[in-house]
Amino acid sequence: MDKLAILSGNATPDLARKICEYLKIKLSDAFVGRFSEGEIRVKINENVRGKDVFIVQSTCPPSNDNLMELLVMMDALKRSSANRITAVIPYFGYARQDRKDQPRVPITAKLVANLLTVAGANRILTMDLHAGQIQGFFDIPVDHLFAVGVFKDYFASNQQLKDLVIVSPDVGSIKMARAYAKRVGAGLAIIDKRRLTPESTEVVHIMGDVEGKNIIIVDDLIATGSTLNEAVEALKKAGAKSVRAAISHGILTGAAIQNIDKCKHLEELVITDSIPLDKAKQHARIKVLTVAELLGEAIKRIHNEESVSSLFD
Ligand code: R5P
Repeated sequence: MDKLAILSGNATPDLARKICEYLKIKLSDAFVGRFSEGEIRVKINENVRGKDVFIVQSTCPPSNDNLMELLVMMDALKRSSANRITAVIPYFGYARQDRKDQPRVPITAKLVANLLTVAGANRILTMDLHAGQIQGFFDIPVDHLFAVGVFKDYFASNQQLKDLVIVSPDVGSIKMARAYAKRVGAGLAIIDKRRLTPESTEVVHIMGDVEGKNIIIVDDLIATGSTLNEAVEALKKAGAKSVRAAISHGILTGAAIQNIDKCKHLEELVITDSIPLDKAKQHARIKVLTVAELLGEAIKRIHNEESVSSLFD
């Protein structure tokens, strides 16, 4: 592993440190700061010539700053003769605009894929993309991991829920919910959600049997919490016994924490550390699980040219 180097931007430093602990290596030293006018200034403080370098950086809010840090770091590494650069992006932002669903809108997921490649990424390692097809926006290898195993282990060891039904809060998360339901041998239900504005949603219909069941809502991300709130209320109205949520990326913007606070029927929201949870956003009903081991194991296998497919199961 002497050719392996892990670097971190300012988005997910704790996760990067935990990955290094798992791999039993030191986090490489790099300065990632700002010039006085706000431009990003990067200096890699150690030799990376010929190294297999992994930069851990989620493109979570502040998304533009975090994305730009990642691009500038890769430029520095490319010019420092790193042998291979892998952008490890636990949360891949700008992914929700992944198609032209209205006239005159961008496809930012593709734009970001182009930017990452031009800046020097040779590979991407990411987790629970908003849409799996985003892998195809890249012409370099993309390893796409799922947090489902981490959630499954947590619920299996802590809750031992009977009469379990996994619920997808919208059509976009059906695949994820189905994978979860299959793994834990639970039922599946789907919510027909309509987005009224970028910040608000409404539940139109629940497909599947939820009456008297213990529910886990599975989704890729929570932003304002509107989707989750609506889903919890609708499920309780439909007779669900209890409702929990397992959501990979806790963006938690705007009134998200107030919304969770108001959502008394939600027993627990479990998220991962793909996005750091600020102190101000901590909540008695929010539990954070680490994905350091999952990412660390993938990094080890990619570095050793071993298969990572068992990590997708
Ligand atoms: C939608 O397609 C996503 O999977 C999430 O359900 C949604 O983006 C969550 O956003 P919010 O928390 O603002 O409702």
